[in-house]
Amino acid sequence: MRGLNTYESFTAVINRVSIDARKADAIIATGDLVQDETRQGYERFRNAIGKLNVPVHCIPGNHDSPRIMAETLSKAPFHFCGTHAYGGWRLIMLNSAVRWDDGGRLEANQLKILESTLAKHPDDHVLVGLHHHPLPTGCRWLDGLGLRNSDEFFEIVDRFPNIRAVAWGHVHQAFETLRNDVLMLSTPSTGSQFLPDSDVFMMDSRPPAYRWIELHPDGSIETEVVWLS
Ligand SMILES: [Fe+2]
Repeated sequence: MRGLNTYESFTAVINRVSIDARKADAIIATGDLVQDETRQGYERFRNAIGKLNVPVHCIPGNHDSPRIMAETLSKAPFHFCGTHAYGGWRLIMLNSAVRWDDGGRLEANQLKILESTLAKHPDDHVLVGLHHHPLPTGCRWLDGLGLRNSDEFFEIVDRFPNIRAVAWGHVHQAFETLRNDVLMLSTPSTGSQFLPDSDVFMMDSRPPAYRWIELHPDGSIETEVVWLS
């Protein structure tokens, strides 16, 4: 894609993760896993990342096939959307993909999962994952392709003080900000990156990357983007 062999860059990221001195408890894959939407592509993803031998939480992006993804990535250690507990932390993984739209939307059933899970687990620290950015990231061309009903999303988020972080993919760049004490994070791609703060579509020369997120028992978070040189 655009001159890059994305399977090679993806496996280079997996290899780098495998030698990270920190051992991950889980991986969050925030969508756009296989652009050509083939079953073989998801099987390649599954074989490559499965070597890390930890749970992998997958959500679909605008370039995925949610149907094939659910069929190939629902058996342990893979999880397709849904909620999962790790100690005092809970992940809520939402599907914001809309067929034939590069922007995203959380349909009523996803908003219901978010709200009911938060209501049921008020004592858990929560990280929410979705593919599309729910707030502007500074790239004007991308900001028209974010979460289209972010007002409905934040109406729920703002009612639950135990949400600690929201993490997404889609934007191919690193982004971090605090919104009402909630850490808002995007993670660069395992392939090529987009140029931050650009009004029009521009590629960035930065390398593939992944994000480390350390979730502490007291609800605090440390995070860092690891770029492959
Ligand atoms: Fe995307």
